[in-house]
Amino acid sequence: MIHNPARRVFLCAAFCATLAGLPVAFAAGFNLPTKRTDLSDADLKRVEAVTRPASDFSKAEPYEAMQAGAATSVDPVTQDSFSHISANIPFEEEQNFKLGNALFKKLWVSAPSSTQASDGLGPLFNARSCMSCHVNDGRGRPPEGGVSATSMFFRLGRAAATPEEGATIANASAVNFPDPTYGHQLQDLAVPGLAAEGKMAIRYAEKTVTLAGGETVSLRAPTYEVKDLAYGPLDPSTTISPRVAPAMIGLGLIEAIPAADILAHADPNDKDGNRISGKAAIVRDHSTGAVTLGRFGWKAQNATVRDQSAAAFSSDIGISTPDRPDAHGDCMQAELKCQKMPTGIQKRLGNEEAPGPVLDLVTFYSANLAVPARRKASFPETLRGKELFYQSGCISCHVPKFVTRRDAAENAQSFQLIWPYSDFLLHDMGEGLADGQQVGHASGREWRTPTLWGIGLTRTVSGHSFFLHDGRARNLTEAILWHGGEAEKARDAFSSLPKDDREALIRFLESL
Ligand code: HEC
Ligand code: HEC
Repeated sequence: MIHNPARRVFLCAAFCATLAGLPVAFAAGFNLPTKRTDLSDADLKRVEAVTRPASDFSKAEPYEAMQAGAATSVDPVTQDSFSHISANIPFEEEQNFKLGNALFKKLWVSAPSSTQASDGLGPLFNARSCMSCHVNDGRGRPPEGGVSATSMFFRLGRAAATPEEGATIANASAVNFPDPTYGHQLQDLAVPGLAAEGKMAIRYAEKTVTLAGGETVSLRAPTYEVKDLAYGPLDPSTTISPRVAPAMIGLGLIEAIPAADILAHADPNDKDGNRISGKAAIVRDHSTGAVTLGRFGWKAQNATVRDQSAAAFSSDIGISTPDRPDAHGDCMQAELKCQKMPTGIQKRLGNEEAPGPVLDLVTFYSANLAVPARRKASFPETLRGKELFYQSGCISCHVPKFVTRRDAAENAQSFQLIWPYSDFLLHDMGEGLADGQQVGHASGREWRTPTLWGIGLTRTVSGHSFFLHDGRARNLTEAILWHGGEAEKARDAFSSLPKDDREALIRFLESL
């Protein structure tokens, strides 16, 4: 089945008009905080001062190299640079991090098995462990040249087709609707005796872009298809969204950014007229049922690290947890054989394949992976690149700094000056990057600004330099040149820079 952009435009025409107007009203209707409540007035003033964008590029800002505050790791740069514990986690909690790490690496097996505490895999799945996709806690990549498809998958879903379904999405009870046969995700693996759903197929077409000074860059535009479908065709209204696994660093700190400070950057109706809107993702926190701000995933569809982890256990590995209790994971009623496969539930251990403590430990691990300190932050070329990053308008979305909540759930995450280079908001990135898939309040053209901290260590940690939600960019320059929509002006500013300046901007990114 071919991913057909024409069709999604048609589908969108009916409902996006209604949905487009909703988020503002709903963000307000959902009563999200507009002002921080964790600080005294004096502290609020201090926070405003330290988070103000830089204006002096002759030297590095104070603390700039420690991009995750006291949680920053200053260990030497190696392939394990993303796998260290946040530097300020108390010694007593290191054991939980180690246990969480073991569970993150644990290979789940199919039920029934003699190793009862590890069974329950699938029946349909994409990988047997968290680490298979988040290799070295780094980012995934598209399959190519003999590398397997593991760390990338297709999300499946269709937009609302009736006003009732539209209301379900608007009130964050669902983000979209599953394919009736294949569910919310294409699982390309299955336990013995069961057919996997199908395989991803990717084709690239090269197109040339010319930059100032005549240098040319070739971008590869992907086309996505599903082949070898085992249970019949996909529904014609199902859209495909390709995703690679993001790096796992600094996630607990992101969770500790006050919602009010993220919402302060939102401008859904572009009142300031800079052609950059920035829209909050409004989602449901599945462990509390509350409607709140989405922060994680390429479309900010998950509110917390715990929610994202429970979703991964369920859809990626097929393991149930207290937050996602269906032991059959993403297998649909139409997949009868899958529904009848044995589960890994051991009543003496609980009602789920991975009981509460397992989810708690994996969440703790995932939330406390340290962000490495910057390299060469005060080198003249880096500072020049930083200035150009600011001047090109990149910081309209890649917001440099935040100060985390004083009342964060973990002490180690409390009141830290952090430099994630993201506003955690959704932006229309143009037709070139569009996947046509609505996810909650994110349209088929919108993506959450990704963080940039650690991006310069991608090759060291992950052994490749594929960027963007589907890894189509083969280096940082290509990633910038794919920016469209709200980011078109910034992209053009970059393309018009003299070669030396473009290189300085890239050096700045590499220092993050
Ligand atoms: C099959 C590959 C795969 C497996 C297995 C997997 N992940 Fe992921 N992970 C992804 C992808 C792809 C994303 C981006 C998801 C999206 O945007 O919808 C992601 C996103 C995340 C994020 C959010 C990161 C961010 O910056 O927003 C967290 C946290 C996470 N995964 C934790 C886990 C945990 C914990 C496990 C094991 C229980 C796990 N993942 C297993 C592929 C995987
Ligand atoms: C309108 C908001 C916006 C502006 C302005 C913007 N970006 Fe981005 N940036 C994004 C979004 C959203 C993505 C993710 C797009 C995707 O994956 O499809 C992204 C992705 C990236 C990535 C790849 C990140 C990754 O993890 O793969 C880099 C690098 C990047 N931007 C750099 C820049 C630079 C440099 C500029 C200025 C020239 C800039 N961006 C301007 C929103 C923006």
